[in-house]
Amino acid sequence: MVNITIDGIRLEVPENKNVLDCALDAGIYIPHLCHHPNLKELGSCRMCIVEMEGESEVITSCTLKAKEGLNIQTNSDRIRKLRNLALELLLAGHPEECTTCPKYGNCELQSLIQYIGANNARMKHRSKGFKVEEGNPLIVHDMNRCVLCGRCVRACNELRGVNVLQYQRKDLEDYVGTLHNKLLKDADCRFCTACTEVCPTGTIRDKISVAGAEQKREDVLVPCRYACPAHTNIP
Ligand code: FES
Repeated sequence: MVNITIDGIRLEVPENKNVLDCALDAGIYIPHLCHHPNLKELGSCRMCIVEMEGESEVITSCTLKAKEGLNIQTNSDRIRKLRNLALELLLAGHPEECTTCPKYGNCELQSLIQYIGANNARMKHRSKGFKVEEGNPLIVHDMNRCVLCGRCVRACNELRGVNVLQYQRKDLEDYVGTLHNKLLKDADCRFCTACTEVCPTGTIRDKISVAGAEQKREDVLVPCRYACPAHTNIP
């Protein structure tokens, strides 16, 4: 165990545990999006940035390992400004009409927007123009709503080992798709729906729950155990 300090609060935590988890376990909320407790850290969304004593650069707390004497600030003016900017950039490529999204009210991105208080008014919004895949009975894949957090790719690869969902690039636009852009049903997808369980937005979603039908699924991931704003009202 090692001693660290987060926002002036001293904690004893396991050495090398990621600092975001240490904070969340201690009831200190640090905004996060690409982090999921069942997946390896990616550090892509930049929502969880913190300042570390003695360092001029900010750092993502999900990839920062706890070590003796670590002292971080999670909510300084500088952090709030940079986090706000990072979220605005994410939102510039995300549809603005939340109320028509089937994940409305149960979307981690929406909750983050409310918590951080960001909007993309000063950004030039761009539409990605992806065709929505919904020609199978289980999963809707709408890349227009994706923020490239990579949770679905990691769930598909790390947890299920099937590697169907992968990062792709076309015309300088990164997206999550299948090899050769095959439909899920033609790309060896097992329709385990692990991707829908971890997606924080309305990008990859379960058709059954979207349709409001009774959902029975034995083989799902452990639900997020953290007090994400999507699940609780964080003051
Ligand atoms: Fe740490 Fe996304 S949660 S970078």
